[in-house]
Amino acid sequence: MATSKDLPPLDVGFGSIFVKNQFRTKPQYPPSTTDLTGKVALITGANTGLGYEAGKQMLALRLSHLIIAVRSKEKGDAAASKLRSLYPKAKVEVMIVDMSKYNSVQEFVRNVDSKLYRLDIAILNAGVIKLKHATEPSTGHEQILQVNYLSTVLLAILLLPILKKKSPPGTPGRLTVVNAALALTAPLPKPDHGHESIFATLDDPKSFVPNTDKTYNMSKFLGQMFAYKLGEYVSADDVVVNFVCPGYVRGTDLGREASVLIRPAVALFAAVAGRSTRDGASTYLDAALVKGKESHCSFIMSWKVSPFNSFLYTPEGKDTADQVFEETMKELEFADARGILESMKTSAVVFRGQ
Ligand SMILES: NC(=O)c1ccc[n+]([C@@H]2O[C@H](COP(=O)([O-])OP(=O)(O)OC[C@H]3O[C@@H](n4cnc5c(N)ncnc54)[C@H](OP(=O)(O)O)[C@@H]3O)[C@@H](O)[C@H]2O)c1
Repeated sequence: MATSKDLPPLDVGFGSIFVKNQFRTKPQYPPSTTDLTGKVALITGANTGLGYEAGKQMLALRLSHLIIAVRSKEKGDAAASKLRSLYPKAKVEVMIVDMSKYNSVQEFVRNVDSKLYRLDIAILNAGVIKLKHATEPSTGHEQILQVNYLSTVLLAILLLPILKKKSPPGTPGRLTVVNAALALTAPLPKPDHGHESIFATLDDPKSFVPNTDKTYNMSKFLGQMFAYKLGEYVSADDVVVNFVCPGYVRGTDLGREASVLIRPAVALFAAVAGRSTRDGASTYLDAALVKGKESHCSFIMSWKVSPFNSFLYTPEGKDTADQVFEETMKELEFADARGILESMKTSAVVFRGQ
């Protein structure tokens, strides 16, 4: 079966893709016989929305140990106690990670590595849409770029050796990163506004169009570029990594910054066109439990391995993916991101970078 890289680019506009995703696709749930007994999974941003629902669905499949990785202990405890009352036999644990801060991501991974004897599945779900430009003071990067791309990629890289060494022998670890079909609408990023770097360009307030999802879409496109490159380093025999779109989902907090003026219109549109969180979260379980090695380093949309943003099939797009990858490695040099990825090519796992 073809991976995203091997598929031909989509030749239809985003409107057709949206209609097909939202109205013409039947949700696919893992077989009810799926048994996660003994398995350990972590989900970032699992206090609410799709992350919470995915945790709930995995517990319903008898997951033994769920780690809710959240930035607010209070919200994490509230979600964990709801899940514990629904599934009292499972262990539900809260761990803290603030995805806007690299040191919090590193601290979280240290905790994961020291506390967990086993890790089968990681779902990197935490994400934001911001409607006004904001800079993360600890890194100087624009917030959406920071949370949705840079810190998510750092966390993915740091978790790879742990998933490789702490999943049972002969069974690859599973890493699912939440992406979005809106990535398909993003243009090819280029250095601009006097900057040589793509990230510096995206950090520049001149690149930010307030009250739109442009930077959000770009952050998810950067994720697809990372997926495109990751296959050069990670074997699906060690960790199956895939990038999944949950579809347009109603009832989550993602649009929390929308002004009160447009909220009624958004709610109406969501009521007509949005998937339920239950159906949306089922895409995570499909990606992390059902899809196999054929989905490695691919983009999954509507429960199906699908093409990336069409620019990734052009020579210019491939060059841009290389540039973004090099900028990412430079940015994450402090954590030895490149060394960790290189170590994934060998059979012995070298765990560094923290
Ligand atoms: N809903 C959709 O239609 C849709 C479509 C495509 C893709 N997605 C993707 O699905 C994922 C989940 O979105 P959702 O719709 O479930 O939204 P949501 O209800 O707002 O959930 C987002 C989660 O991310 C967490 N988060 C945000 N910033 C964080 C940070 N700095 N550190 C740690 N956690 C942070 C939030 O924690 P707090 O509660 O503490 O803020 C929350 O738990 C996102 O990656 C989103 O891009 C959603």
